[in-house]
Amino acid sequence: MLATFEAPDLQADAIDPAFRDDVLRGLADPIPSIPARWLYDRRGSELFDDITRLDEYYPTRTETALLTRIMPEIVAALRPGMAVVEFGAGSATKTPLLLGAIHPAAYVPIDISGDYLHESAAGVDKAFRFPVLPVVADFTKPIRLPAAIEAMPRLGFFPGSTIGNFVPRSATDLLRHFRATLGTGAKLLIGMDRVKPVDRLIAAYDDAAGVTAAFNLNLIERINRELSGTIPDGAFVHEARWNDMLGRIEMHLVATRNVAFTVEGTPFHFAQGSSIHTENSHKYGQRGSRLLLLAGGWTPLAEWSDPAGDFALILAEAQPNRFAP
Ligand code: AVI
Repeated sequence: MLATFEAPDLQADAIDPAFRDDVLRGLADPIPSIPARWLYDRRGSELFDDITRLDEYYPTRTETALLTRIMPEIVAALRPGMAVVEFGAGSATKTPLLLGAIHPAAYVPIDISGDYLHESAAGVDKAFRFPVLPVVADFTKPIRLPAAIEAMPRLGFFPGSTIGNFVPRSATDLLRHFRATLGTGAKLLIGMDRVKPVDRLIAAYDDAAGVTAAFNLNLIERINRELSGTIPDGAFVHEARWNDMLGRIEMHLVATRNVAFTVEGTPFHFAQGSSIHTENSHKYGQRGSRLLLLAGGWTPLAEWSDPAGDFALILAEAQPNRFAP
């Protein structure tokens, strides 16, 4: 049974005016940047899928293997009859793994991209017998869940280390929104990528086949196509940098020469070597990940990682607020 709830202010397939605003504002900023969410148009999402299969990109296969191994422990830690609420449209491998083991009372995937959400929700609906209730909405804000799951205990699912793509302040806000959406008493299963040697991190975000470079450079094609941009071919190259102080991999588009172009008629100049910052991917140590969850209103209950310690899955709970020492 597949029913969909549409957030009232979202239209599928329309060019988002927020893209225009973010690009024009971001390119004019003293430290130029464009929010990473604009990397994911249809082509960008396909390229990200390709990234997840690269030898150098360890997170996806490591998290999938970890999830498979620890599933009996996760099931043992949960109440029966839960509604699984996934923040994102769901992955073709990890989501069925979880749902097949938990046998939830309902599954609620939440994603801003209606097309992609419907495709993956229909796949889950075909494979399982519980109700699938997709919600088209921006999960970075609190959301009203379908009335059908009101009385059910909830498990939030946020795999993939997507939390790492938010700066800690926004990550904290996001976790608080998850708590507001799911309610006190809910549980959250979240994936976080660990800090590791810089050469491995750089290889994961600047692979030999150039797939991550194509993913980053696709943003330039998108600006040229959707916002009448005139950014010349070859004017920017992909670069992955480790920012040690902030504990994150950064993706940049670096100007190969002095370059001038317009976006919707607005002129921009980039000096050779200057960059547009397009993504952050924060890596968390054990203490850091727990502290982030606590700051976001979630108490860690259990934590698992692969034998090499590359990736962690953490089960946390939205406990009633206590301000006592
Ligand atoms: C989606 N997200 C968790 C990926 C990451 O690893 O931060 C995005 C990505 N960007 C380049 N490669 C992968």
